[in-house]
Amino acid sequence: MTCIDCFEDHGLELRSYRCRRCGGPLEVQVETDRVFSASNLSSRVQSIWRYAELLPDLGSPVTLGEGMTRLVRCERLAKIIGVKNLYVKLEGTNPTGSFKDRGMSVGVTVALRAGARRVVCASTGNTAASLAAYAARAGLECAVLVPKGKVASGKLFQARLFGASVCEVSGTFDDALKTALGEAESIGAYILNSVNPWRLEGQKTTAFELYEQMNGDTAFDVVVPVGNAGNISAIWKGFRELSANGLIDDLPRMIGVQSAGAAPLAKMMSLGLEEPSWVEDPQTIASAIRIGRPVNWKRAVRAVRGSGGMIYSVEDSEILEAMRLMATSEGIASEPAGAAPVALLKSKVQSGELPSDLTYVCIATGHHLKDPNPALVSWNEPTTVEDYLIRAGLQRIKSRK
Ligand SMILES: Cc1ncc(COP(=O)(O)O)c(C=O)c1O
Ligand SMILES: [Zn+2]
Repeated sequence: MTCIDCFEDHGLELRSYRCRRCGGPLEVQVETDRVFSASNLSSRVQSIWRYAELLPDLGSPVTLGEGMTRLVRCERLAKIIGVKNLYVKLEGTNPTGSFKDRGMSVGVTVALRAGARRVVCASTGNTAASLAAYAARAGLECAVLVPKGKVASGKLFQARLFGASVCEVSGTFDDALKTALGEAESIGAYILNSVNPWRLEGQKTTAFELYEQMNGDTAFDVVVPVGNAGNISAIWKGFRELSANGLIDDLPRMIGVQSAGAAPLAKMMSLGLEEPSWVEDPQTIASAIRIGRPVNWKRAVRAVRGSGGMIYSVEDSEILEAMRLMATSEGIASEPAGAAPVALLKSKVQSGELPSDLTYVCIATGHHLKDPNPALVSWNEPTTVEDYLIRAGLQRIKSRK
């Protein structure tokens, strides 16, 4: 493992996630003399662990069959938003309904190997749901810290169902994370936020799946919602490892998207600054990315700059519209954060800031039933049968009966 700031070599660290020299974040370096190929993957296990050569070898993994999520080609939606080719990767089809399961499978495996009996995280909801399930699977005690009143109901339900101690913190996610990082040691818990570099090792498998699902042709742009900025960094790491091992020639461009009310990185990049200014009171309907101080901001900015991409922001109204378009034109759905990539494409392709003649892959990060908020479907209020018949001009059929 090495520090991403000062490149200090750390050997294998299962517990520490900060550089002992400068305090910077640690990253796992993968060295392997053999790697999978498109042909030898076909007979392997249907989970992230099929990519074993590029994952940590820590004995039997804690797994629920995470990964292998569907990649859906969306021709009708592509036409509506004006792009040549559009694919949406449905991360909601993971075991607990979000991409977090990829990272938790690796992270909880490492926690067990490190001898932990208790795990903890702060969360906007999905990390809590995922950690609660994987901790149960591993027989570990689990505590999750969430911002009180700011978590989608489905996610809170999941964390409680899987038996985690759910601690509600007044304030924002950023406050909850500060408490979790500060108290983990005192309660003897292994920390599983995305500051933990092993989570990112699991999440990088999204890149390996895209390589497989697109038959090795990686000439596309990947559009990813950004909250704490772990996922976009992890996916980029995955593509870099594919390239370093000679499996791909083209590195995709990484495009990040934040909500306008929680967009420190989009702002930093649009102003060409070297450091973000934090957003103290982030606001957005996309509660999963309601984060004002992304801990992985350095990794994400490197991913985006290194790939020739960008981080933009979208308004809540654009996210709602994207959810509606995805659902009604393709029958695919996501919680609000996961619809932000489609919202971004629609806006930036129409304004000419992103080219229309490319292939785009949007990462729909979480399942729509996580957040069954009536405000998200206010454009389609239920009606009475009588009103429906009148609107549909079917009054005659009704009176004939
Ligand atoms: C559905 C969803 N999308 C996107 C994100 C943002 O991911 P990251 O924090 O890795 O940037 C999250 C994080 O909670 C999420 O739950
Ligand atoms: Zn360092």
